[in-house]
Amino acid sequence: MDQLPSYLTISDQPSSVLKSLIEKWKPDHVAILVDENTRDSCLPKLTIENALIVEIKSGEENKNLGTCEKIWSFLTENQFTRKSLLVNLGGGVIGDMGGFVASTFKRGIKFINVPTTLLSQVDASIGGKLGIDFNHLKNHIGLFRDPDHVIVNSNFLETLDTRELRSGFAEVIKHTLIKDRSQWQVLKKNTFESQNWNELIPRSIAIKNAVVSADPTENGFRKILNFGHTIGHAIESHLLMTPNKLLHGEAIAIGMILEGHLSLQKGWLTEIEFSEINDFIVSTFTLPNQLPDLETIEEYLMQDKKNDSKGISFSLLNGIGKCEFDVSISPDTIEKSFSAYSKLR
Ligand SMILES: NC(=O)c1ccc[n+]([C@@H]2O[C@H](COP(=O)([O-])OP(=O)(O)OC[C@H]3O[C@@H](n4cnc5c(N)ncnc54)[C@H](O)[C@@H]3O)[C@@H](O)[C@H]2O)c1
Ligand SMILES: [Zn+2]
Repeated sequence: MDQLPSYLTISDQPSSVLKSLIEKWKPDHVAILVDENTRDSCLPKLTIENALIVEIKSGEENKNLGTCEKIWSFLTENQFTRKSLLVNLGGGVIGDMGGFVASTFKRGIKFINVPTTLLSQVDASIGGKLGIDFNHLKNHIGLFRDPDHVIVNSNFLETLDTRELRSGFAEVIKHTLIKDRSQWQVLKKNTFESQNWNELIPRSIAIKNAVVSADPTENGFRKILNFGHTIGHAIESHLLMTPNKLLHGEAIAIGMILEGHLSLQKGWLTEIEFSEINDFIVSTFTLPNQLPDLETIEEYLMQDKKNDSKGISFSLLNGIGKCEFDVSISPDTIEKSFSAYSKLR
């Protein structure tokens, strides 16, 4: 069984975990970074004496240098030093940006992530990727550094919008499909509503941790985490400026169906295995009936430098619970999976 990261605690008493870390590290100042949603819904569940609150506006559009400047200014005005601590209370936007701000402030101060979305609990808080968007390029500026601690509590999810929760569930499905065949048997028997988060979250975190620990700076093996993301990300980017905009996990759900179909075409998934995956995803997510044409998303698909004239590089399932990376697939084969999509649903 894969292990949890050494820097992560799962607890329904996040305040006491935080308090004991503060007693151990004795920071001279503590600030909690929130947005307007986590201030209202999550901050009441995290009581820390003498912590300052630094609030930013929610949303990916604010994950940028301007917001970082505001946080750096706040820390400076309040005399934060290299012995100070930043606690990031929020989803992946807060975690990625707060971690980046902390890692660069006075060449790096301690930071703790308290992730409050499913996506940030099972995905963004693990693996050490920190950063911000720049000139509309996602996560363009950043660095690798593990948080000094991560505190995970599924109770935070109680106030999360169901669409956001479902979107995060796509990453749980992905982790299961790439590395946990036995967990798939459990997952597929339940509906989204009847899933046991307290069981699924630790398992999903342990899978991500095992993968990133084997390849911390993304030289190879870590690419298996891209299952569903090559096509999913292209569709997400294409629809970003349209009224049909999808949440990340929804786009990844489509990506997992199409990339699962590529595995089927390769003979790496049986018809039965592929149908199981397809049926489960279709019954979990509300997905568009029609996809953009392959030609219209090709520019996004081709962005990966590993692609060549013969094909596009994918991470594909080789059976349920196993994933291969750097699998080159021809445009004709991809086209077949795109054509199959409308009949699959
Ligand atoms: N570092 C990594 O490895 C990694 C991995 C995956 C994604 N990411 C990043 O994560 C970001 C997406 O994260 P996300 O999906 O958590 O979105 P998010 O951080 O934008 O949060 C989604 C929304 O939910 C609100 N919210 C958060 N927790 C809440 C709660 N408990 N109750 C009520 N509202 C709450 C937020 O204010 C926000 O409006 C992206 O920027 C992505 O690039 C990073
Ligand atoms: Zn993802």
